[in-house]
Amino acid sequence: MSRAGLDKNPREVAEMFDGVAKGYDRTNSVMTLGFDRRWREWSRRVLDARPGEKILDLAAGTAVSTVQYAESGAWCVAADFSVGMLVGGAHRRVPKVAADALRLPFKDNSFDAVTVSFGIRNFNDTVLALKEMARVTKPGGRMVICEVSTPVWRPFRVVYMRYLLKLLPLIAKFVSSNPVAYSYLAESMATWPNQRALAELISKAGWEDVAWFNLTGGMVALHRATKPKPKPKAEEPTP
Ligand SMILES: C[S@@+](CC[C@H](N)C(=O)[O-])C[C@H]1O[C@@H](n2cnc3c(N)ncnc32)[C@H](O)[C@@H]1O
Repeated sequence: MSRAGLDKNPREVAEMFDGVAKGYDRTNSVMTLGFDRRWREWSRRVLDARPGEKILDLAAGTAVSTVQYAESGAWCVAADFSVGMLVGGAHRRVPKVAADALRLPFKDNSFDAVTVSFGIRNFNDTVLALKEMARVTKPGGRMVICEVSTPVWRPFRVVYMRYLLKLLPLIAKFVSSNPVAYSYLAESMATWPNQRALAELISKAGWEDVAWFNLTGGMVALHRATKPKPKPKAEEPTP
């Protein structure tokens, strides 16, 4: 049984997810009281994958979201650095690649859209990962991030931060194959940037048209952005 520290050492993070892979989908549904299905449905709508497009689902885990995106007729690949998680989704018939978000094994400008659900919070360097996501996205291409965030209503935010997050490791004792991992989950959720701060990191990494909207009162937020197209060169003045 293992858990990562908040320094998010990649080896520890990958090992931790290998340890939760067994029964991960069920644990997720129990911990979110089934809300995960709604959040994924919103991600699917906002991503708006279309037939013929190439979509990268990064930190895809068991590929639960990837198969939903693929229903659109787009070609969707699940990438994750936890082989245990990918194996946990072996029954899901989408291509899967073992890959680190910070050094993606894809050429520049390969994808029409890149998305990550509940993964970016675990990356060791958020801005570097956002830049890497931009590198593999075509100019004008889209990015959608679905991630836990900060509840907007203050009284609920206080209860959520002080009490609800602390309940997660206790619930995990009954439903997870690696309950200690859920103390990391609670800590990483409590220290993750809020909606605006994440939007600023996305802009800093070179994305444009950054926007977000809240789901379930801000417990989760969807951020979307576009990769800028190269600016046309200014015409030479005629002599
Ligand atoms: C909470 S799970 C989310 C899985 C899936 N996206 C979902 O929505 O159920 C986070 C995933 O991020 C992956 N991950 C974390 N850091 C990563 C990295 N640097 N590169 C690739 N995958 C990473 C983990 O292995 C894990 O599968």
